[in-house]
Amino acid sequence: MTTRLQDKWVLITGASSGFGAEAARAFGACGAKLLLGARRVDRLQQAAAEARQAGAAAAEFHELNVASTPSVEKFIAWAKAHVQSPTSKGQGLHVLINNAGGAHGLDTVAAGKDADWEAMIQSNVLGVLRVTRAALPLMPHDCGASIINIGSIAGHTAYEGGAVYCAAKAGERSITRALRLELNGTGIRVGTLDPGLAETEFSTVRFKGDTARAKNVYAGMTPLTAADIAETLVWMASRPAHVNIDEMLIKPTDQAAMHKVHRRKT
Ligand SMILES: NC(=O)c1ccc[n+]([C@@H]2O[C@H](COP(=O)([O-])OP(=O)(O)OC[C@H]3O[C@@H](n4cnc5c(N)ncnc54)[C@H](OP(=O)(O)O)[C@@H]3O)[C@@H](O)[C@H]2O)c1
Repeated sequence: MTTRLQDKWVLITGASSGFGAEAARAFGACGAKLLLGARRVDRLQQAAAEARQAGAAAAEFHELNVASTPSVEKFIAWAKAHVQSPTSKGQGLHVLINNAGGAHGLDTVAAGKDADWEAMIQSNVLGVLRVTRAALPLMPHDCGASIINIGSIAGHTAYEGGAVYCAAKAGERSITRALRLELNGTGIRVGTLDPGLAETEFSTVRFKGDTARAKNVYAGMTPLTAADIAETLVWMASRPAHVNIDEMLIKPTDQAAMHKVHRRKT
């Protein structure tokens, strides 16, 4: 366990489930101070309680819809009050994790729905931009601060039915690369963590509550867990200040490539 994150402010979007909620626990176990956002406030409350139990020095939460600029601005104003409070000793925001996002539907382009396309671009692309723009003034220079965006294997390889999700995550990758160039010289690190198949609520959301179809995505193989991703996020954010983990593709051993998944007979 690292001591580099002790008492540091860590902001996580999409902290109500999956990677975000587990990251709250993992950063909490390092003694970090957490600022958690998502739309489901009851689930945020639960994530904050679990993070405190894991050892977080603080775990605060506030409603956030990354698809809305006013919601992001309200959320960051709330975050600013915590980060710049007199007891914070001018530390600022040490880690920003742009995790909120997901896929909606698996339709071909020919059968695609406007609402699904818009939701995916709003959360995975515009959400990352909105939150980063608003949070950057809270991040100190030359102190080893980090911005880590959650991409996907889908940003590396396109698949049938994934046109818009793949485009969104490829967009996230380009945003990450451009931001790293823009922030060069500030000491703020910028990276992307790009997972393959991981079992969270991701597939249930994609298939609009069809849990049987969601379960089938992971049939006969061992997917990544949210804890695998959370552990990697902590590792990335706790490297020495002169080390930037630019891009990491992390896949289950059973998934050699997007379309090559070893499945055992069940
Ligand atoms: N699981 C995978 O296989 C996988 C693989 C690669 C990448 N990813 C990416 O990993 C990230 C986390 O996904 P997950 O697997 O942990 O799935 P998840 O369990 O469904 O979590 C998604 C999180 O994003 C939040 N979110 C979605 N839209 C939002 C919005 N408009 N505003 C604020 N929060 C929003 C959700 O919270 P609310 O609904 O409460 O707002 C939830 O906390 C996503 O960016 C996803 O694309 C997942």
